[in-house]
Amino acid sequence: MKKIVSLILMFVMSGLSILSCASNTSNPTPHSKTPKDRTMEIKLSDKKILIAFFSHTGENYGVGNIAEGNTHIIAQIIAEATGGSLFEIIPEIDYPHNSYDKVVEIAKQEKEKKVRPAIKGDVKVEDYDIIFLGYPNWWGDMPMPVYTFLEKHEWNGKTVVPFCTHEGSGLSNTEKYVADTCHGARVAKGLAVRGEIAQNHREQANKLVKSWLSELEN
Ligand SMILES: Cc1cc2nc3c(=O)[nH]c(=O)nc-3n(C[C@H](O)[C@H](O)[C@H](O)COP(=O)(O)O)c2cc1C
Repeated sequence: MKKIVSLILMFVMSGLSILSCASNTSNPTPHSKTPKDRTMEIKLSDKKILIAFFSHTGENYGVGNIAEGNTHIIAQIIAEATGGSLFEIIPEIDYPHNSYDKVVEIAKQEKEKKVRPAIKGDVKVEDYDIIFLGYPNWWGDMPMPVYTFLEKHEWNGKTVVPFCTHEGSGLSNTEKYVADTCHGARVAKGLAVRGEIAQNHREQANKLVKSWLSELEN
């Protein structure tokens, strides 16, 4: 009787181990690329860092008439924290500074028609390892001059780190748009800061940036 029980056990065990082998080969554990995973391998020290950004001054949503754009403020905080170089994406034809509504209308048309407005100057993206990319959320997207900048360059092997300022929409889908445009780049987890926080609560903005940067590194 004992012999029969141990034979049955042996049979069941070997069946289980065959099943487990089969499941190891036919169904390997997937390496999911969640935003958390994307943050894990970024080491900021000993890397050449660029902070490229677009930002608009003048009549602005919720914060009145501003001399320094909200995204510009965040870009500067990142530059101070990382030692990176700043590059401002400036359209050749400026958006109006005296009417928020006019900017909103122009931006809407540009987005609908996928316009690529010419931009002033350039920077050698090839010389950098990590490119922080900053922009205000315009109609749930990046301003079109940011696409002009992105489409001018080669992104293979680069790490692109998006950040935006907004007044409620956060990053919208822009991390995906950045990934779709920067072929071959790794796109890290982005940061969204309310424009009002960037403009009027610098200490809070500072803390948000610093904690995001340390999350990116760990
Ligand atoms: C043309 C335009 C479109 C905007 N669309 C949005 C939007 O869809 N969602 C949102 O949260 N904020 C939107 N905003 C508000 C800006 O994202 C916000 O004020 C931002 O902080 C401006 O950054 P800047 O000062 O760097 O240009 C829009 C602003 C403008 C001018």
